[in-house]
Parts: sequence; C-alpha cells; structure tokens
Amino acid sequence: MASPQQIKNLQQTFDRALGSPNAVSTSPSQSFLQNQFRPRGFSTSNQAKPLKPFNTEDMKILLLENVNQTAIDIFNGQGYQVEFYKTSLPEDELIEKIKNVHAIGIRSKTKLTEKVLTAAKNLVVIGCFCIGTNQVDLDFAASKGVAVFNSPFSNSRSVAELVIAEIITLARQLGDRSIELHTGTWNKVSAKCWEVRGKTLGIVGYGHIGSQLSVLAEALGMNVLYYDVVMIMALGNSKQVPTLDELLSKADFITLHVPATPETKNLLSTPQFAAMKDGSYVINASRGTVIDIPALIAAMKSGKIAGAALDVYPHEPAKNGAGLFSDDLNSWASELTSLRNLILTPHIGGSTEEAQSAIGVEVGTALTKYINEGASVGAVNFPEVALRSLDLDQQNSVRVLYIHQNVPGVLKTVNNILGNHNIEKQFTDSQGEIAYLIADISDVDQGDIKSLYEELNDTPYKIAVRLLY
Ligand SMILES: NC(=O)c1ccc[n+]([C@@H]2O[C@H](COP(=O)([O-])OP(=O)(O)OC[C@H]3O[C@@H](n4cnc5c(N)ncnc54)[C@H](O)[C@@H]3O)[C@@H](O)[C@H]2O)c1
Repeated sequence: MASPQQIKNLQQTFDRALGSPNAVSTSPSQSFLQNQFRPRGFSTSNQAKPLKPFNTEDMKILLLENVNQTAIDIFNGQGYQVEFYKTSLPEDELIEKIKNVHAIGIRSKTKLTEKVLTAAKNLVVIGCFCIGTNQVDLDFAASKGVAVFNSPFSNSRSVAELVIAEIITLARQLGDRSIELHTGTWNKVSAKCWEVRGKTLGIVGYGHIGSQLSVLAEALGMNVLYYDVVMIMALGNSKQVPTLDELLSKADFITLHVPATPETKNLLSTPQFAAMKDGSYVINASRGTVIDIPALIAAMKSGKIAGAALDVYPHEPAKNGAGLFSDDLNSWASELTSLRNLILTPHIGGSTEEAQSAIGVEVGTALTKYINEGASVGAVNFPEVALRSLDLDQQNSVRVLYIHQNVPGVLKTVNNILGNHNIEKQFTDSQGEIAYLIADISDVDQGDIKSLYEELNDTPYKIAVRLLY
C-alpha cells in the first residue's frame, strides 16, 4: 500500500503534469504508475543513496522540438545542464550539438540517423517525447550502448475521450448538421438520430485505450462487449466475446484499438462489414492499415454502415497544410470525403495538452532513472534491467553498468574483475546482439574506482561502461 508521502508525491506530480489543480483527468500509464508505486527499495525515497557518476562531467541534456516543460522541470531538479530549443535543428547543427551531450530529447521531426549518432561521443540515452521511435536508428543506437525510451501510453485517455465524442456525434449526425448550418442550411431532423444509452459498443483490442473507453462508455449507459486475442479481465460490466464475428453481429458501434500488425491489416473489410448489424457505426483511431477503406466506402454508400469516424489513414501527410489529404496520397480520398455522416480527423486522437504533459513526466522520469540508477525498464531497443536502490548506509558501494556484445564468456571476464570485491547483487539480460549487466559491489575504496573502471573499460566485447557511487 502506498504511504501518505508517496500519495502526496503522486498528487504533486499529477498537478504538475496537468498544469492546474482543477484539471479533470489524466491517464497515467502503467509504467508511470509503477514509478510512483514501485516496491520499497526501487523507490527514490529518502532512504535510497543518491548515486553520482564516475568519470563523467555534469550531465548535459539537449532538448529539441519544444519538449514539454514537465520534463525540463524534472531535469533541472536533478541539476542537469539543459539546452532547450523550440524546433528541430538542421543536420549539420545537430551533429555539432550532439557531440558533447549525454542525453537528447526529441519528438518526431529530429532524425537520429547512424551519421548523427556516430558524432555523439558521450551519448548515454535518447528520449523520444512521443509515441513513435522510427525517427531513431534503434539498432545502431543499441550497438553504441545508447538506450532509447518513448511514451507509448500517456495519451490513452485522450484517445478514449475522442472516441466517446465521436460515438455521440455519429449517433446524432452532428457533423452533417454543423456543415449544413455553416453553409446556411437549416435542417432540423430526428429521423435516424439516436441516444447512445442502451446501445452496444463493441471494442476490438482491450488494451490501454480500449479498456479506458469501456469505463467511459458504461458511464453513458452503453453495454460494452470487447474482443481481444488475449483473455483480459473485464472492467465494470463489460463482457469479452470469443470471436470478432460475435462482436460484429451484436454491436451498434464498433471501435478499433489494436496495433498495426500483419494480423490486423484490413481487420475490417467487406466480409466484416457484411457481418455487422444494418445501420451500425464504425470508428478507427488505431492505425490506418486496420480498415480496408474502399470496402468501408462501399458499405457506407449501400447504407449498411450509418456513419464512421476515422482519425488514421494508410498514408498521412508529413506536415500540416491545405490540399495535402488528396487522391495523390490515398487514391480514394475524394470519394471518402464526399460521404455523409463521416467524421475525418487528422490523427489527433492523442493530441492534447494533458497528454503532452504526461509524456514529459513519463519520458523525463525514465531518462533520469537510466542516468542516475542505470534502470532500462521501458527501453525500446535495449535489454530491460533494473536493481533496487543502494541504501544510504552503503557508503563503499559502487553500481557497475556494463553494456556489452552478447557473446559467450563476457560475464566470466567481468565477474573476475568484480570478484575482487563483494558482489551484493547483479542482474543481466540480453536483447539480440546487446547485453546489459547491472551489479552492486561493496568494499570498494574510493581509490579503487578508477582502476575498476579502467579494467572494465579494457575488456573485449565491451560497448560502454558507467560506474555510479
Ligand atoms: N489516434 C491516435 O492518435 C492514437 C494515439 C495512441 C495510440 N493509437 C493507436 O491505438 C492502438 C491501441 O493503442 P493501445 O495503447 O490501447 O495499445 P495496447 O497495446 O495497450 O492494446 C492493444 C490491444 O490489442 C490487442 N490485439 C492485438 N492484436 C489483436 C487482434 N488481431 N485482434 C484483437 N485484439 C488484438 C492486444 O492484445 C491489446 O490488448 C494502437 O494501434 C496505437 O498505435 C492511436
């Protein structure tokens, strides 16, 4: 159970993330909550010994693309040197700036290619303050011993709320009425406009977003069914169904919250639309490949589907601007935009101020824990390893962070070196060609730290070494 102090800390973090004590809600992700309520010993509590790095200057962090203030506050609070830019940088400037920094925080526009990362001589960690990480050469970063973190779930609540808005908007044909009145047409109708109370929502994919949505929909008086490839405990009165077909045949509203995988490509296509109730509604705020859009267009034209909301598309413009959502990008674009009771939004499901704040807290915390404690839990390109904190009274202890190529015999060499001291605890894991060892060793004189570092640094297959004490 969390202590009153932990709850107070959590409340303060929420308040900071939300920007206002009166803000209504946020959606902390699993990893965010784990950080707040981690078991004793993993906590950066008053009892934990703050670790300082050996042989590293003050931590320098380069933050680009207007990373959220919540992250800047976290780094300033740690005493790191923060260099902040509102925009991304041209490649030559980026190469110059990245040379000396230990950490970099970016969003989607900064490309951290092999060329850029090769210039980064001191880089320890990359924070992607967004969902996607394909702007970073993840394998090359791992091969250099650089861990990459992102924030996949900080915007779950924002997406769930958008979907709730769309359910009511579609049921009441609000989009069409609004467009009509904007062009001077008064069209007061009630035919085929419905309340959502008592209707059935079918959620495909009951993960972070699907499960949030389930709770909100029940609060509106909807019945909730969900289909997922994994057996998941139902929230509220919702019910898991064993097949997609059962969900399609029973739901009035069908909403998709699955990842883009080969299995989910065109998950809804002509046979699935045919299996739905006449006059049902379809919502996709997951990924653009999950719906066969020409099949949706046909189903809407025939009247089988009464309305749809799309937030994501197979091809999306790389920047904002007029005329970009066209047939040149997706061949069916003009046919799609001509349909009635169809809400089209430009991939804004997760785009809220609250989500940006929460992303700042989540990635800022992950980077700080990696820099200060070596914990790589949540890294996307790296073995996930963590050890509980050293206690304050462990004065002659050193934490060894050793990243190496995943080849036989390395641990034997390393343990021969560490074996001259008392190994209190260690944890190692590998992912592909990279392995990562964290070990806490005691009985280390301050004077021994340098030679320990040098010995580890000279081992074959080493990628990077850090010592914290
Ligand atoms: N529109 C936006 O701005 C926006 C924002 C955030 C996330 N997303 C997208 O929303 C989707 C869901 O995100 P999430 O955070 O809830 O993901 P999640 O990983 O928490 O949940 C996905 C769920 O889908 C299930 N699943 C996987 N394959 C399935 C299949 N073939 N059939 C049924 N269920 C399947 C998984 O078991 C899991 O429970 C992702 O595609 C994500 O990229 C969109």
